[in-house]
Amino acid sequence: MLKILILGSAAGGGSPQWNCNSEVSKAVRIGQTGTSPRTQSSIVVTSNDEEWILFNASPDLGAQILNNKQMHPKKDLRHSPISGVVLTNGDVDHVAGLLSLRERQNLSIYAHKRVQSVLNSNSIFNVLNSEYVDRRELKMNEKFELKNKEGEGVGLQIEAFEVPGKIALWLEDESKGENFGTQEGDTIGLKIYSSIDNKSFFYIPACAKMTDELANRIKGSEVVLFDGTLWKNNEMASSKVGEKTGQRMGHMNNSGEDGSIEAFKNLDVKRKVFIHINTTNPILLGESKERKIVEENGWEVSYDGMEIKL
Ligand code: MLT
Ligand code: MN
Repeated sequence: MLKILILGSAAGGGSPQWNCNSEVSKAVRIGQTGTSPRTQSSIVVTSNDEEWILFNASPDLGAQILNNKQMHPKKDLRHSPISGVVLTNGDVDHVAGLLSLRERQNLSIYAHKRVQSVLNSNSIFNVLNSEYVDRRELKMNEKFELKNKEGEGVGLQIEAFEVPGKIALWLEDESKGENFGTQEGDTIGLKIYSSIDNKSFFYIPACAKMTDELANRIKGSEVVLFDGTLWKNNEMASSKVGEKTGQRMGHMNNSGEDGSIEAFKNLDVKRKVFIHINTTNPILLGESKERKIVEENGWEVSYDGMEIKL
């Protein structure tokens, strides 16, 4: 069996975001019915209930581990059920939590070579002592077994693939033109399998566009956790909290002709789950008309602590 535990269902900043007073953040803060606090983007997966792999390491990782007993140390004086980490991009919401994984614990960290090179060139990540932490380059378009630091399989296999996206915000280079220096591999999606029974699901927390290639990959699949950042492309401007569009940030919107609800309509995916949801997105309000539309179209809105078994 494959078990997925959603540690953090929100996009960068979380919900409520610390400095945000827009509708959703406010509603969550006062505990409005149909809302709940969401931490930043991360999941953990296991097939054997013993060794878990963390997919993306959010700045909220410490609290996420504390709040989910599956993540507590179980054996010996020093132990963690987390055997390794896989990164889907270099965004702050996906890498800052690596800094909380120091303290001499064996780990393997898998990322595309673009992201590994960023980690390697930032010496603060040297807190992950190479004696304990192995940094491994993620091969693309090839199914392989994830291994712990000792080189033993952890019961999970993955296939990584590039998806349309953007270089991390903190690495944008305006001099490099309209894509800010984005290259292939800056954003990836994953198909994650149990080595035991070959059950699988997709994890794609950031994606700027549905391509034919991606549509063909996910067609007919059991579960897809997909980029749910924004309801509409100009949401930041219309909620008066910023100017950037979803497309500018490398995210597809949920609604509209170019949105994910439309793009998934004929793909026959059994469970469609939005993840990495921004605090401006009205689908985070349980009673909103947007939430109703999402649910009527067969989508689920993920929440912290949500478990999916397959
Ligand atoms: C994003 O998903 O667009 C990024 O996490 C933005 C950020 O770094 O805040
Ligand atoms: Mn993000």
